[in-house]
Amino acid sequence: MATQNSSLLFGSVLLVLFFLCSLEDTFGTAQYHNVQLSSLLPSSTCSPSTKGPNKKTSLKVVHKHGPCSQTKQEEPNAPTHIDILLQDQSRVNSIHSRLSSTGGGGDVKKLDSTTLPAKSGSSIGSGNYIVVVGLGTPRNDLSLIFDTGSDLTWTQCEPCARSCYKQKEPILDPSKSTTYSNITCTNSLCSRLSSATGNTPKCAATTSTCIYGIQYGDSSFSIGYVAKETLTLPPNGVVPNYLFGCGQDNQGLFGGAAGLLGLGRNAISFVQQTALKYNKIFSYCLPATASSTGYLSFGGGASNSVKYTSFSDISQGSSFYGIEIVGITVGGNKLSIPSSVFSSSGSIIDSGTVITRLTPGAYGPLRTAFRRAMSKYPAVSGLSILDTCYDLSGYKSFEIPKISFLFGGGVSVDLASSGIVYAVSAKQVCLGFAANEDAGDVTIFGNVQQKTLEIVYDVGGGRVGFGSAGCH
Ligand SMILES: *[C@@H]1O[C@H](CO)[C@@H](O)[C@H](O)[C@H]1NC(C)=O
Repeated sequence: MATQNSSLLFGSVLLVLFFLCSLEDTFGTAQYHNVQLSSLLPSSTCSPSTKGPNKKTSLKVVHKHGPCSQTKQEEPNAPTHIDILLQDQSRVNSIHSRLSSTGGGGDVKKLDSTTLPAKSGSSIGSGNYIVVVGLGTPRNDLSLIFDTGSDLTWTQCEPCARSCYKQKEPILDPSKSTTYSNITCTNSLCSRLSSATGNTPKCAATTSTCIYGIQYGDSSFSIGYVAKETLTLPPNGVVPNYLFGCGQDNQGLFGGAAGLLGLGRNAISFVQQTALKYNKIFSYCLPATASSTGYLSFGGGASNSVKYTSFSDISQGSSFYGIEIVGITVGGNKLSIPSSVFSSSGSIIDSGTVITRLTPGAYGPLRTAFRRAMSKYPAVSGLSILDTCYDLSGYKSFEIPKISFLFGGGVSVDLASSGIVYAVSAKQVCLGFAANEDAGDVTIFGNVQQKTLEIVYDVGGGRVGFGSAGCH
């Protein structure tokens, strides 16, 4: 009986939604999203997105801590929202110092030392979304965090000479693979590690194997041998001699993932290593909640609706993808923010930063306009870096103003409702943006704002594209 009632209710909700949508299409004037509270909160079971690109090489993307993640059961103490936002601030701090420092890496200590140099600016946080790739022959399937803000791909490796944290899948054992080979210190690939990791590589005393070290903003790190191995992207993409880090000393908040897939802009990233195969093009869609899935795919073939804006040069030789943000609209009205506010800080797009960071001169007007539009809902206290929150537990559905980002070249991108608010709980639904402390700190377009968008990185073409409803 109850089920019948709820499916009836569900049916009529759908009808009403359909009606609203068609109204919106006809007049094109709706400046609000009508949001079901349930659409913002993850459920306890995974319901994979059925949408996806029609491409050969496409991996399923899941959130590190959601019910769709295979790594989840390895992590009984999943982080709270406060933990996630604190870790996010560590990543942002290290991005800021990395982009403002004049370069010059630290030194990788010996494998038997416990820490990497905590040189400010030499590290970035590690991100939140996971894909499964194959490594070795025979192939081992490994869950890796994918990160557009760093270049080196690495995974924990046997014999874990110093330390491996607990991971979901068996740890890669090079001695069982027929395609593994070490890189020596005299190989020119070894010296490329400096710019990719921010640390000068070291040399193993007797065997002369190249040793990398990389540290992330949340004080996670990996140290190990630089090696080549066959990488397999399901279902049938094979990349022989893929340069990666075979981690012998690994610690940190990787949530059961085996390591990291580096999709940054620099020399040894996945994008650069597979340039001939995938033409330096990849795209992804991040799901609306942790109980759905998105995708990460390689090679061309984006939807026709994708609109492109040029990458900007953010910092010579950095891993980050610079973009040009020129304005923001809230509820159809362009905020009056001088364009110098955006141009003086510069902007990047990052898959690993959670909350978009705006300069104070842009965040202030955004918050004011959002608060005005939300004035009928009860305000509650903020959480960590989020300062504009509402108790929406009394509402089945509610309205939030539409927000669009304007990029260089006249490209306007409408954010999904899941890209506007960050739902801590029904009692605390917050504006999903935060201000940088310093007006000169780089603006970061983070992964909450990217949710459900089809985002195409055409690295060879020097442009990034945005399409709507790439996944749900
Ligand atoms: C790779 O180098 C390490 C460190 O020198 C060594 O222990 C390991 O046996 C080497 N592996 C292969 C397959 O040569």
